[in-house]
Amino acid sequence: MNTRIEELRKEIIEVEINSLEEVEKFKIKYLGRKGLLQDLFEDFKNVPNELKKEVGKKLNELKTEITQIIEKYTEEYSNTITNKSSIDLTSTPEPIAIGSRHPIALVKNEICDIFHRLGFTISDGPEVEDDWHVFSALNFPADHPARDMQDTFFIEKDPDILLRTHTSSIQVRIMENTKPPIRTICPGRVFRNEAVSARAHCIFHQIEGLYIDEKVSFADLKQTLLYFAKEFFGTNSQIRLRPSYFPFTEPSAEMDVSCSICGGKGCMVCKHTGWLEVLGCGMVDPNVLDSCGIDSKKYSGFAFGMGIERITMLKYQVKDLRLYFENDVRFLQQFQSAL
Ligand code: DAH
Repeated sequence: MNTRIEELRKEIIEVEINSLEEVEKFKIKYLGRKGLLQDLFEDFKNVPNELKKEVGKKLNELKTEITQIIEKYTEEYSNTITNKSSIDLTSTPEPIAIGSRHPIALVKNEICDIFHRLGFTISDGPEVEDDWHVFSALNFPADHPARDMQDTFFIEKDPDILLRTHTSSIQVRIMENTKPPIRTICPGRVFRNEAVSARAHCIFHQIEGLYIDEKVSFADLKQTLLYFAKEFFGTNSQIRLRPSYFPFTEPSAEMDVSCSICGGKGCMVCKHTGWLEVLGCGMVDPNVLDSCGIDSKKYSGFAFGMGIERITMLKYQVKDLRLYFENDVRFLQQFQSAL
């Protein structure tokens, strides 16, 4: 019995194990129900009583050694690639799943880039504002409906503190603090007390533009907006300006761009008019310049404002505004390959 134990010990010490599969085979061969160790335990019954203690000890030691070998190789091959020759060091790594920019951010960045090329800087302002910067300095009459609780989220009354309803409030802050020439665009979030639907939301994004210097004319406004339209919607784009009204600009206009989907022929997106309504604009009202401490006799300027959601809807043909806020990854992933 002792010699058989010794033989087995030698055998297991010299054994070569190269994979998890071989570990399993080794385990079955020695520790399995019909394994070699089991045979020895069977024969143990026949060992004379006076030798049982010594032989039993050796048998148990052998079992421990076998178990240790199994554990050692199992650990080694579980942590490493089993077949070393299969590693291809020249293969490219698995692509890492990266996120995508939000469509609103994509469009905002693109618009900012276009105006940056024209020398416009980017300005920022607070979302929680006072009445002066959102309404009074912008020439809103006291009874203007936008000042109504139904349209504006008020935080405090007397003095009125509110969530800005447009980014035009940033122009006021810039004019108050900067000496012309001023050439800046102001992207930001705005808030209006609207029922949420496919076409309206209580939070959205705008970009405001402001240009003030001596002798700035309506022609400058037109040329700037035409450049923007061609850069953003394509070089064949045309623009048209329709007379409109805003309290802070005089004259005021709304700008349409020829439909980039049908090229102006008429389609579902432009409702068969060939034109897409894109932004509001105008010459800054002299009252506004004076309210903000800029001499309206010396300086003139133009301003414009557009909704980023609307422009994004036109660019990517998104039909429901709510998609921008739900952050459903199936929607967001569609913008992975965009800029
Ligand atoms: N503030 C306007 C709005 O929220 C948009 C706008 C129109 C901004 C004309 C302007 C402008 O600067 O000149 O609807």
